[in-house]
Amino acid sequence: MHCIANEGSVMATLQEARNGLRATTDWAYERLGLRSLTYHVPSYANGIPYVLGGITLFGIVILIATGIYLTQFYHPNPTDAHASVFYIVNEARFGDFVRSVHFWTANIVMITLLLHLIRVVVNGAYRAPREVTWAVGVGLLVVMMGFFFTGTVLKWDQEAFEALGHNEGIGTILGSLGVWFTSEFSRSTSLLARVYASHTSILPAILTLLVLGHLYLIRFHGIAPRPGDEEAELSQKLQAAEQGETVQGMSHFNVHVRKIVAYGLLLTALAAVLSIFRAASLGPAPVPGIEVTKPAWLFIWLYPFENWWGLESLLWIPGVLIGALLAVPLLDRFRVNSTRRQWVVLGIAVIALAVVIGLGTYAAVTTPAEHLVD
Ligand code: HEM
Repeated sequence: MHCIANEGSVMATLQEARNGLRATTDWAYERLGLRSLTYHVPSYANGIPYVLGGITLFGIVILIATGIYLTQFYHPNPTDAHASVFYIVNEARFGDFVRSVHFWTANIVMITLLLHLIRVVVNGAYRAPREVTWAVGVGLLVVMMGFFFTGTVLKWDQEAFEALGHNEGIGTILGSLGVWFTSEFSRSTSLLARVYASHTSILPAILTLLVLGHLYLIRFHGIAPRPGDEEAELSQKLQAAEQGETVQGMSHFNVHVRKIVAYGLLLTALAAVLSIFRAASLGPAPVPGIEVTKPAWLFIWLYPFENWWGLESLLWIPGVLIGALLAVPLLDRFRVNSTRRQWVVLGIAVIALAVVIGLGTYAAVTTPAEHLVD
């Protein structure tokens, strides 16, 4: 009897809590205009392949938060930089952990970003009317690689020092066009300090503009139909759902956002676990005049080209690839669901994977060569 009474009061408390939560949510929805975010999206947009862009964005938020913490201790002066990272690792409160979460999140985000790109390619989602969304995406890829590169330089160990040497070397090859990438540009501020400025203000500013443009265009065009489905048919269904008709296979944007947050939290948990078991590395302070390291995994496929064709190849190979990526919407003339297109995409994917694995293996087995030291 006593037990039933207790159960009743627990249920009543739970109901009260639920009502309270609903009232608060309603209040927030009304005041913040969140109802406008409950528009319809196709339910396939909640599947993992379609939330990879959102997960990447969530990861970027974690990178900003952890990055701001690191700026409290980091010193971008070449004589103090390595010691300040050493301080972060060994003395700053939670420094080692926060730095490692920053490092692992950066790596995971580059993977989700590349997977997002692959999804867009497989989907043929770069086609009209989404060519500009694609082009802005290519810009985002370049900026994210810029973040990865400048982040590697900031830790100011041997790998960082040599990476910056390559930056300076390429700037020199470009002559007056590349002077900004060299120490020549400013006598008052070191190149390392300017790399720090790029990592913490220039690239974030460009990233913000590009992300805003990307999101605006995605909202404007809506998510692309799945291969085999017609664009017009999808927008008709979405319109009908907005007008209150019951349409199969529809969901809401707020559900989509909840999925992104859930996967984003999983990504953060993964970065935290990796940080506990394997902290971000820091090599000894740099020694000028030697070249003994290889690039980080994201750039390792370029290493063999540098061995074969010299420093210039680091300029024109990425340039050609970026140009080719930008041209993808112009080059693809197949129907989205044509079997020939599927074979071509599969063929390119297999060849690209084989080339990247081949180049990576070559880079891993060769002894570091000297590209900068005369
Ligand atoms: C910081 C990097 C990026 C972020 C945060 C981002 C974010 C997003 C988000 C949230 C979406 C909505 C659907 C989805 O998540 O799949 C999306 C769609 C899209 N993204 Fe990205 N993206 C990034 C980079 C790229 C890159 C590198 C490309 C290609 C070069 C690209 C091309 C596209 C295209 C074409 C769409 C429309 C796809 C569709 O309608 O199905 N994005 N992006």
